[in-house]
Amino acid sequence: MNELAGKHIVLGLTGGIACYKAADLCRALVKEGATVQVVMTEAAQQFMTPVTMQALSNRTVYGSQWDPREPNNMPHINLSREADAILIAPCSADFMAKLLHGRADDLLSLMCLARPLQSVPLLIAPAMNREMWAHPATQRNRAQLVSDGATIFDVGNGDQACGETGDGRMLESHELLEEVIAFFQPKTLAGQHVLVTAGPTYEAIDPVRGITNLSSGKMGFSIARAAREAGAVVTLVAGPVSLATPRGVNRVDVRSARDMFQAVQDKVAAATVFIATAAVADWRPAHAADQKIKKDGSGKTPELSFVENPDILAAVAQSTRAQAGDLYCVGFAAESQDLLANAQAKRLRKGVPLLVGNIGPATFGQDDNALLLVDESGTQEMERDSKLSLARKLIANIAIRMKARGQK
Ligand code: CTP
Repeated sequence: MNELAGKHIVLGLTGGIACYKAADLCRALVKEGATVQVVMTEAAQQFMTPVTMQALSNRTVYGSQWDPREPNNMPHINLSREADAILIAPCSADFMAKLLHGRADDLLSLMCLARPLQSVPLLIAPAMNREMWAHPATQRNRAQLVSDGATIFDVGNGDQACGETGDGRMLESHELLEEVIAFFQPKTLAGQHVLVTAGPTYEAIDPVRGITNLSSGKMGFSIARAAREAGAVVTLVAGPVSLATPRGVNRVDVRSARDMFQAVQDKVAAATVFIATAAVADWRPAHAADQKIKKDGSGKTPELSFVENPDILAAVAQSTRAQAGDLYCVGFAAESQDLLANAQAKRLRKGVPLLVGNIGPATFGQDDNALLLVDESGTQEMERDSKLSLARKLIANIAIRMKARGQK
């Protein structure tokens, strides 16, 4: 998608077995359109050769502050001035300690100290043994580096190269890529808590059969990702879908409309924005059979009767907090025809300030969509685009609306 087009990233490698992941990360950054300048400490070169990193980044790798290739012999200045960010992945415990003290006895630490603080952010992906990560010294360094302005990504949990198991693994390259992309998005929803519903629901007929719909959950998951990229705390209540959870998003899996209703009721008190993208089943079988319904050979078909499911969005929109303007509610309308008229009517029926219409059959399961935003003053079209791009535009639009309402 060229998410990092125009970005120049200095990728710093320090000593650690996670250097093998940095090779893949370098490739992924380049694939997203970034130019990548690799700088390696001496310790990093014990784990990965500069040749590999040069081939992947298509640029000469730097390792020494005494590198004579720079005409002024100041690689620490020359390389740091062009960067949109310095990303240290992997960052060892030792290197974190070094950064903390502003030490500068090798090219990478020298660059970090010499970088213009306001324009070149420092992103750190720690990688170390679990005991080293848990050590009070490392945790103290981590907290201090954050208060000095660095962004420190989480560590992964699992099997470590040393044979132990726990916290301290460097995140996988695709996870770091998602974090870097998120870092560059505008933080329009910082301080907000966004609750999103997504996907279909599944209403059981018997233990092996049920009623569901064609929603893939992709639009809702993209919205959850975009909200988190915009700086919000995000909770995603997901119906049965097989999509990966966007990084940093709290996910609650549910199956039926009633489960979804309950999960939303449990989470909504903390939310300042509620976005209902789920294609909730309107009805469920009145009586789900305890055992599988069998054919009896007579050709008789089972008779199903239905009862209506609770309307999750309407209930939230009528809550005291939503009515008082402390919770901004956004509905979706999946229609098959007459989008404008249906969306306008649905906005009023649900009692929400903003309703987003889309044509269900034209978007269910696809990676792209087109949206029609309907509010009390009119409509706005968002042309066909990837679901992630549309989600980012919608989140920016919601942020503007909340600001206009004066919602904190
Ligand atoms: N919705 C909900 N709970 C329901 C039904 C719908 O929260 N039981 C929400 C959806 O998540 C969406 C909006 O209401 O944000 C509209 O959903 P949609 O299925 O398009 O509309 P319905 O209310 O089901 O109306 P209809 O089926 O008649 O189009």
